[in-house]
Amino acid sequence: MLTDQLSMSRLAVEQMASEAWQEALRRHQISNAPAGDRSRPYSFYGRNREFVELGAHERILSGPAETGKTLACLWLLNQLCWSFPGLQAAIVRKTYKSMPGTVLETFEKKILPVPPDDPGSAIEAFGGKKPERYIYPNRSTIWLGGMDNPDRVLSSERDVIYVNQAEELTLEQWETLTTRVTGRAGNIDEPFIMGDCNPAWGTHWILARDKTGSLKKIDSRHEDNPVLYDQETGELTVQGKRSLSTLDSLTGVRHLRLRIGQWITEMPGALWTHTLIEKNRAARPTELARIVVAVDPAVTAGEGSNETGIMVQGIDQAGNGYVLDDLSGRMSPEAWARAAVDAYRTWQANLIVGEVNNGGDLVERNIRTVEGGANVSYKSVRATRGKYTRAEPVSSMYTQGKIKHCGTFPELEDQMCTWLPGETSPDRLDGMVWGFTELFDLMGSWVLS
Ligand SMILES: Nc1ncnc2c1ncn2[C@@H]1O[C@H](COP(=O)(O)OP(=O)(O)O)[C@@H](O)[C@H]1O
Ligand SMILES: [Mg+2]
Repeated sequence: MLTDQLSMSRLAVEQMASEAWQEALRRHQISNAPAGDRSRPYSFYGRNREFVELGAHERILSGPAETGKTLACLWLLNQLCWSFPGLQAAIVRKTYKSMPGTVLETFEKKILPVPPDDPGSAIEAFGGKKPERYIYPNRSTIWLGGMDNPDRVLSSERDVIYVNQAEELTLEQWETLTTRVTGRAGNIDEPFIMGDCNPAWGTHWILARDKTGSLKKIDSRHEDNPVLYDQETGELTVQGKRSLSTLDSLTGVRHLRLRIGQWITEMPGALWTHTLIEKNRAARPTELARIVVAVDPAVTAGEGSNETGIMVQGIDQAGNGYVLDDLSGRMSPEAWARAAVDAYRTWQANLIVGEVNNGGDLVERNIRTVEGGANVSYKSVRATRGKYTRAEPVSSMYTQGKIKHCGTFPELEDQMCTWLPGETSPDRLDGMVWGFTELFDLMGSWVLS
């Protein structure tokens, strides 16, 4: 065990020198105790520092990729857990399944001095590789969960909630979270909700809420990350050159958002807008008349190849369509066939539709070979007309409010709002269009059976 003197990290020394930090300490009652055995030592700079010293009930650290947003949020959360015995905190993301490989890994490997499964760890993780909560020696607890299963994190009041990739949440989900940090948990004077996000589109609720003042947004920059920029000289580091050159090679909207950090405006000429999709969010209906799983296979699997679109969609008795799930990804033929058959079972779907690529009936053959695949109801569809001809009627059903998204589907929605007729259409969008073409019988006789 290090003595207090020895474990006095550079961080703690720096913190004590800063007036703003002193003020933050007073506000949050963060103890001045050395941080060395609580967290790996970090210093925060620029906007990120401003963020960890901020006081606001709703706060978001926004910026392009790799500016240090997640690290700053997790660091603050960990400090608070140590400083307020019995603190009830939560880390939340859109879905739980996206947490272990990202934000939780950063927490365990970069914030905690040793990972929770190390015998010397002061912090215990419950749930193993898929942790459900972290418990501190002072009884502080961090609950972990996705908005796809919110009971776990929201069953009672929290003192602090951290939302990773907050732009993926709907406004309704964010507002629900704000009602869980009202002070009833009672372990901290000023309970709050914080989030990190990458810039999304210009009509996003995060921007609107920042404008009205109910939320405080701070814009994080690459220059604030000491791994990328030497904080004394302001020069790019070797790692910085590497990271930024990777981000430089992104194209289009992803370049604007993840490299430049720009909130993008709607794309002129696209068949959908984020504003339109936002209007068409709805809860999942309890009863659906028909459900299909639509599969648009990538031709080859592997790094750099296309993703396979696997979309789950339904239609109710009244003739409204719903996007229910997006299971797309870069997968081997066997993996996507299994994912499609699993989705068929989980959702008790009526049909799998698969696009016939280049004349081959690859999808059906694959599906039939995986376990349970022999019995699914399956239909091949073939693109005999242009993508635009297929996509346009689906887009106009959105305009009429007849298609709803149950939750948010960031990748699909980005594809919808950035695809320009004439370009090759991306996989998720293709799958979605096939799904609704089938459900609404938009092209009836044009498809093969
Ligand atoms: N203040 C800091 N001190 C040291 N390393 C940092 C700091 N901020 C960020 N990093 C490192 O930079 C990388 C990106 O940080 P991260 O928080 O994941 O970025 P973001 O969430 O903005 O994409 C990580 O490897 C992280 O450890
Ligand atoms: Mg991050």
